[in-house]
Amino acid sequence: MKSVLYALVCLIPAVLAGTDAGAQTFKPPSSSPTAQSTNYVGQSNGTLPLSALVPGKVFDRFVQVALPKFWHHSSVLIKAQIWLENTDFAVASTTPAFQSLTQQGILLNAYYALTHPSQPNYAATVGGDYWGMADDNLHSIPSNISTIVDLLEAKNISWASYQENMPTDGFTGSSYASKNYINTRASSYTYYMRKHNPTINYESVSLVPSRTARHRNFNDFAVDVTASALPQWLFVTPNLVNDAHDTSIDFAAQWLQYWLLPLLADPRFNDNRTLILLTFDENESTNVNNQVFSVLLGGAIPQGLRGTTDSTYYTHYSPLSTVQANWGLGSLGRGDTNKTLSNVYSLVANVTGYKNNKLSGSSIPSTSSSGKTPGPLNPNGLYAPYPPPNLNAVGAGGGPVFVSPGIH
Ligand SMILES: *[C@@H]1O[C@H](CO)[C@@H](O)[C@H](O)[C@H]1NC(C)=O
Ligand SMILES: *[C@@H]1O[C@H](CO)[C@@H](O)[C@H](O)[C@H]1NC(C)=O
Ligand SMILES: *[C@@H]1O[C@H](CO)[C@@H](O)[C@H](O)[C@H]1NC(C)=O
Ligand SMILES: *[C@@H]1O[C@H](CO)[C@@H](O)[C@H](O)[C@H]1NC(C)=O
Ligand SMILES: *[C@@H]1O[C@H](CO)[C@@H](O)[C@H](O)[C@H]1NC(C)=O
Ligand SMILES: *[C@@H]1O[C@H](CO)[C@@H](O)[C@H](O)[C@H]1NC(C)=O
Ligand SMILES: *[C@@H]1O[C@H](CO)[C@@H](O)[C@H](O)[C@H]1NC(C)=O
Repeated sequence: MKSVLYALVCLIPAVLAGTDAGAQTFKPPSSSPTAQSTNYVGQSNGTLPLSALVPGKVFDRFVQVALPKFWHHSSVLIKAQIWLENTDFAVASTTPAFQSLTQQGILLNAYYALTHPSQPNYAATVGGDYWGMADDNLHSIPSNISTIVDLLEAKNISWASYQENMPTDGFTGSSYASKNYINTRASSYTYYMRKHNPTINYESVSLVPSRTARHRNFNDFAVDVTASALPQWLFVTPNLVNDAHDTSIDFAAQWLQYWLLPLLADPRFNDNRTLILLTFDENESTNVNNQVFSVLLGGAIPQGLRGTTDSTYYTHYSPLSTVQANWGLGSLGRGDTNKTLSNVYSLVANVTGYKNNKLSGSSIPSTSSSGKTPGPLNPNGLYAPYPPPNLNAVGAGGGPVFVSPGIH
């Protein structure tokens, strides 16, 4: 795999309500990110089939890694502010994992989530809309709704969703409990939640076996990396302790040190065509705008831009528009083509010529409301049907809005 861009979107929600963050101590789930582990239920049945590399303009592989958030716990809150405080490198640098990351990447200090709570942000970053959703309940978005998967497959760009403690490939259940590997005397533990596995929530994916098979666990990840068989677009979700959802930012930092740092130095994961986006899924507060800490990483970032800051306004639609721009894809004709919300990462826009808006400061729209947007999944009675895509929209990739029989 010679060209790789990983856009690693670490969507990090903040949830610690009712959890004692001190109860669990980080324990590596495997001897290495590239070794299989019996702490995971399903041993790998082999690698993804290799397919021809489709070169992008700036990167050749895009990975989104999802980490849910943490809050409501005083010691964690301080750490959360360290993680999320965009300018405070001095404090962030006390955590080696973050220090290393920020020095290697481009800090995006005007990056905003789209709503609250977590799940709608995940749904939006692959589907271009959150459908009025304002909860973490199980949802199945009907099979006529397109996603990034349709755009990628139209160009034969390989993709996968790697979900740490998912039991079997293509699992569509809402959660899964397995052996508690941290506290081995405790009963099984719910390490996997579907709400953090965005593509499987769309029936245009979950009802198609060749697509469900591309939802793989971390034993598969290990096998795929080792075989240099990672696809070109990845969404990676660590389990509920490693992503800080049930634990703390310290715990997640240790996971990043265990998992991400060695992979950044592994050319089978990160080569000079790899881009990684690390972000949080939502701000911890609902009374401020929804700004989240985000950093771009990976070998596709030129040396001269490492350790710099990009203050362009981005949202969780930006990964969609950036991928579209990079590969000249079509669009979904939804939030991914909304010129206000879908600026393309400058690293890519500078190469493709896409014109970003210059919103900053108070001109940045508020995206901190929750449950106030009408939609088919609005929990507050603000119903509106699934909207058809805007067929006149032109996205950052310049291609047509995706339409195929039964899917649009
Ligand atoms: C994708 O692959 C199929 C099967 O190999 C081929 O027929 C098709 O032309 C390819 N599409 C593109 C856009 O390369
Ligand atoms: C591999 O196949 C075996 C046998 O069908 C199954 O038990 C296991 O869960 C599969 N592994 C994954 C990761 O799906
Ligand atoms: C990127 O890596 C490839 C393969 O290792 C190498 O041939 C190429 O020179 C590298 N490009 C840059 C700009 O470092
Ligand atoms: C939430 O947003 C505010 C205002 O932009 C920012 O100061 C704060 O750091 C953010 N907090 C988190 C946890 O991201
Ligand atoms: C684009 O997003 C902005 C900000 O949320 C919103 O005001 C506007 O209505 C959206 N445009 C379209 C065409 O949906
Ligand atoms: C994009 O181009 C602008 C204008 O030339 C430059 O200031 C900026 O550093 C570039 N940013 C990136 C991330 O390449
Ligand atoms: C998609 O399917 C849903 C459920 O069957 C239906 O309510 C909706 O009108 C359809 N949307 C479009 C845009 O066709």
